[in-house]
Amino acid sequence: ILSNRSGSFASSPELKNHARITTDNQALADDSDMIILSVLPHQFPQLNINAADKLVISVMSGVSVARLQQAVQSRKIVRAMPNIAIEIQESFTPWFCEVDLTALETEQMITLLNSFGISERVYSEQAIDFLTALTGSGQGSLAFFEMAFIQSAVQHGIDEATALKAVKQLFFGISAFLRSHHQHPQEDVKKLIDYAGTTAAILLEMQRSGLAEKIATAIDKGYLKASKGMTQES
Ligand SMILES: NC(=O)c1ccc[n+]([C@@H]2O[C@H](COP(=O)([O-])OP(=O)(O)OC[C@H]3O[C@@H](n4cnc5c(N)ncnc54)[C@H](OP(=O)(O)O)[C@@H]3O)[C@@H](O)[C@H]2O)c1
Repeated sequence: ILSNRSGSFASSPELKNHARITTDNQALADDSDMIILSVLPHQFPQLNINAADKLVISVMSGVSVARLQQAVQSRKIVRAMPNIAIEIQESFTPWFCEVDLTALETEQMITLLNSFGISERVYSEQAIDFLTALTGSGQGSLAFFEMAFIQSAVQHGIDEATALKAVKQLFFGISAFLRSHHQHPQEDVKKLIDYAGTTAAILLEMQRSGLAEKIATAIDKGYLKASKGMTQES
C-alpha cells in the first residue's frame, strides 16, 4: 500500500499495477503490519497516524525514536538510513531499534532493507545520526572529491570534458575494482607509500596537510546537523 497527499502515485502505471494506492495515511496504517515513513523530516509533524503495535520504519533523518514513538503511538520503531544508491539496489542501510522485535518481524524487516542493498544493525541512535552524515550523505562527499579532482585537471590545462570523463571513469572503475579487492584501505595506503612512486608523493602530502582530520571535521558538521533534528523547514 502506498500513500501520499497528492495521490500522484495513482498516475504511475508501474506503481498502480503493483500496489494499492491511497491518500489516507490512517487507512494504510490500519491495513499494514509494517509501515515505512518516508516523508521529509519537516513534513513529519503533519503526518497524523496512529500505528499502535505496528512496526514502523522511519528513513527520516533527525527524527528521534522518542519523537516517533510519541507521534505514531508505537514503541516498535526502527530508524533506517539508506542512501541514494537505493535507486540501483546498492545502498548501505544501517538500522537501529531499541525494542525487541519478534524473529519474524526482524526477518521481514531485514529482507526489506536488503532488497535495496546491504543493511547493518547498529546499537545506538547516535550511530544512526552519525551514519546519516557518513553514508546517508555520501553522495555529496564523493561528488566533492570528484569536483576537486576535475578542478585539479583543469588547472593543468586538461579540458573540462576530458577531465569529467577521466574522473567519472576513475570513480566508477575503482568502485568496481574495490568490490573484489578485500584488503583494508590502511594496508593499501601503506603499501603504496612503501612503493615510493607517484601515488606515494600524493598520499604523503595528503597526510602532511591533515586532510583526513579535515574530512572528519566536515563529517562531524553533518553529524551535528543530523543529531540536532531536522523537523523545521530551512
Ligand atoms: N533520497 C535519498 O537518497 C534519501 C536517503 C536517505 C533517507 N532519505 C529520507 O527519505 C525521506 C524521503 O525522501 P525523498 O527524497 O523520497 O523525498 P520526496 O521525494 O520529497 O518524497 C516525500 C514524499 O512524502 C510524501 N508526503 C509528504 N507529506 C505527506 C503526508 N502528510 N502524507 C502522506 N505523504 C506525504 C510526498 O508526496 P505528496 O507531496 O504528494 O504528499 C512525497 O511522495 C526523507 O525523510 C529523506 O531524508 C532520503
